[in-house]
Amino acid sequence: MKFTSVAAVASLAAAASAAPSTPETFGLVAIRSGDAVQYSGFNAAKGSLFAGLPKQNATCEGTDDGFATFYIKDGGLYLYGTDETQQFYVDRSGMGQGKIGYTTGDSSSAPRNGELTGWSIDKNNHLVFDGSSPIACPNSIDGAYSIWASAGVANPAGNSDCVGIAARVEKSDSPVACTYSS
Ligand SMILES: *[C@@H]1O[C@H](CO)[C@@H](O)[C@H](O)[C@H]1NC(C)=O
Repeated sequence: MKFTSVAAVASLAAAASAAPSTPETFGLVAIRSGDAVQYSGFNAAKGSLFAGLPKQNATCEGTDDGFATFYIKDGGLYLYGTDETQQFYVDRSGMGQGKIGYTTGDSSSAPRNGELTGWSIDKNNHLVFDGSSPIACPNSIDGAYSIWASAGVANPAGNSDCVGIAARVEKSDSPVACTYSS
C-alpha cells in the first residue's frame, strides 16, 4: 500500500513537471507595523522598484492593476511580461548603496556591480535578497516609497526616514503580462 501511494505521488510529480511551465507569479506587499508603508503594494516603473505608487503606467495585455507581478527563476527576479525580459539587479557597491533596478531586454545592461541572482522566498513567505529583507524610503516619485536592498546603509542615496520592511509574497493566480516603463 505504502509503495503504491509513493509511486502515485511520484508519477503525479512527474506529470506536473512535464506540463508547460507558467512561472509561479506573485505580487509583493510591504509589511511594517505602525508605519505608513504598511500594506503598500509593490510597483515597477522607470527601471526601479516602488511601493505605494499611485500609477505605475505599465503597458499590459489587459488592464494594469497598478501592481507589479514577479517571478523567480534560477535565483533571478523577473517581472512577468509579454516578450521582453525585465530582470532585477541589486547594486550593493558603495555607489549603488543597495539600489534595486531592472533591465529591459538585455540583463547585460545592468550596472557593472549589479547582482542578478540571490533572490528567494524565505520560510515566512517574504522575498529576500541574499537572505535579507529590503528597506523602504519615503518621498520618492508621486509620493511613493523607493525600495532598496539591505547594503549596510540605513538611508541610501541621500534618502531619510527609511525603514526596514518585509516584502510579503502574495501568489497571483491569473497574472497579467505587462511591460514596465524603463
Ligand atoms: C503615470 O502617468 C501619470 C499621468 O501622465 C503621471 O502623472 C505619473 O507621474 C506617471 N507615473 C509614473 C510612475 O510614470
